[in-house]
Amino acid sequence: MNRPSDGELVAAARAARERAYAPYSGFRVGAALRTDQGEVVAGANVENASYGLAICAERAAVAAAVALGHRRFEAIAVAGPGPDPVTPCGACRQVLREFPRGVDLEVLCAGEAGERLLATTLGALLPDSFGPDSLQPPPADPPGHPPGVPRTPPGP
Ligand code: THU
Repeated sequence: MNRPSDGELVAAARAARERAYAPYSGFRVGAALRTDQGEVVAGANVENASYGLAICAERAAVAAAVALGHRRFEAIAVAGPGPDPVTPCGACRQVLREFPRGVDLEVLCAGEAGERLLATTLGALLPDSFGPDSLQPPPADPPGHPPGVPRTPPGP
């Protein structure tokens, strides 16, 4: 497959933006992930009459990609309205941090049209981050416990 360029990834985010469901804010956002294999998976924000349930474009793209079997992302493009690049919100930065490339994910932030682009990394947007590697390993089985058998959690 021909690897999509950064410009093509931004174009995919802008195309997804057209499909956003944002009747409450009017702030339509599109996102497009590029996987290590060069696939592109897009998402758009999805709002709700219960305002706090809005799903950002970036997380919509992650959910779509994971459902299609992709977890190895090398870049994400985000496109919002207006001339200024839109950057991912804090929650989306943390969600993107979860996947194998971690803080080295490339993040391309764009407005709705034109060349103005902020090209950065997740590490720059989310310094000193918490990720899967920050968790302690689970405690070892007690002596005599059969391997592979789940332990009963301690009772109340
Ligand atoms: N939004 C995104 O989809 N991505 C961002 O990076 C910033 C914010 C959405 C959430 C909400 O639907 C609307 O933009 C206004 O905050």
